[in-house]
Amino acid sequence: MCSTIGTLFRVTTFGESHCKGVGAVVDGCPPGIALCEADIQVQLDRRRPGQSKLTTDRQEADQVSILSGVEQGKTLGTPIALFVPNKDQRPGDYQSMAPIPRPSHADYTYQAKYGIRASSGGGRSSARETIGRVAAGAIAEKVLHQTYGIEIVAWVSEVADIQEPQIDMTQITRGLVDANLVRSPVARTADKMIGAIKAAKNDKDSLGGVISCVCRNVPVGLGEPVFDKLEAQLARAMLSIPATKGFEIGSGFAGSRMRGSAHNDPFVQKDGRLGTLTNRSGGVQGGISNGEPIYFRVAFKPVATIGQDQATVDFDGQPVVLAAKGRHDPCVVPRAVPIVEAMTALVLMDSCLRQASRDYRSLTPC
Ligand SMILES: Cc1cc2nc3c(=O)[nH]c(=O)nc-3n(C[C@H](O)[C@H](O)[C@H](O)COP(=O)(O)O)c2cc1C
Repeated sequence: MCSTIGTLFRVTTFGESHCKGVGAVVDGCPPGIALCEADIQVQLDRRRPGQSKLTTDRQEADQVSILSGVEQGKTLGTPIALFVPNKDQRPGDYQSMAPIPRPSHADYTYQAKYGIRASSGGGRSSARETIGRVAAGAIAEKVLHQTYGIEIVAWVSEVADIQEPQIDMTQITRGLVDANLVRSPVARTADKMIGAIKAAKNDKDSLGGVISCVCRNVPVGLGEPVFDKLEAQLARAMLSIPATKGFEIGSGFAGSRMRGSAHNDPFVQKDGRLGTLTNRSGGVQGGISNGEPIYFRVAFKPVATIGQDQATVDFDGQPVVLAAKGRHDPCVVPRAVPIVEAMTALVLMDSCLRQASRDYRSLTPC
């Protein structure tokens, strides 16, 4: 299993959905950063289950404790351990489903790979694992904002076939995103999305969606060609989030249908440096940030666990009808917004440290 991401800002997550708790160890955070639990809790509250009628009914406060690496409100440069207890477990919900691998979930593949699996709630494949990512991401984000003024904002841009109209990515804020339950900033389409999710929930069904994300004020020069190009790292980070099925940056798949003459981003002089007139590159060229806003989209599938009858087979290959029990999200995208922001922050933080490490002459010789 691989539970660690990052080269210099290294984050390891731990925990299963129904064990004592989940969390992360962050190694490589710079020393002397003001940090307290409240800095982290804001994003955990946006991720937490039971926060609205559109999410799972599982009730968890998801209160984070910083166990190490911080003293008198300042980071020490030592590993920061973050812990969130699991409180509202109901393993009984899963007993009847134990002999049946849920279609399109991770039960069959975990069992086949490890020969054993957590008995309830999806174990490590559950979205509770992402608590560690969100907690670690909040630390990265604080450092990025303080040091470079980097802003990361994600929002729901599609639910099923409902698409938001084009919006101005230079203006979008988390305040606008959180103005409604579905975290989609255009009220007209947000209402339709909310209606569609409620209808799917009533039908004991689920819906997919798309999250868009923009990163502003990103310094030029982040990304490590050739295998750790910035967009390759972002794609890897996003596709490691449970239930993701697609990633595109800048013009993405639509760009493949354009001509070069229409697609190229001409250079212009901007604030004493070269910028681009348009930004179909999505802020990354040659795997390196170019100083323009970085923007990308992540596709999420409809969640696998649904209450409707599904014809499938059990682990012995015998035909069964599964009507899944337990408490589940009818559509994950509203809760996945802070997860996308966190994974983005982890990639950018690590990239900043890697680029800064090139300045080896900054050491004072003795
Ligand atoms: C925020 C969030 C909440 C999720 N909630 C559920 C859920 O309630 N039920 C479910 O079956 N899957 C849920 N998932 C997705 C599963 O964790 C995921 O589909 C499963 O681990 C299989 O992995 P894969 O879809 O990446 O192949 C959720 C994902 C996210 C990001």
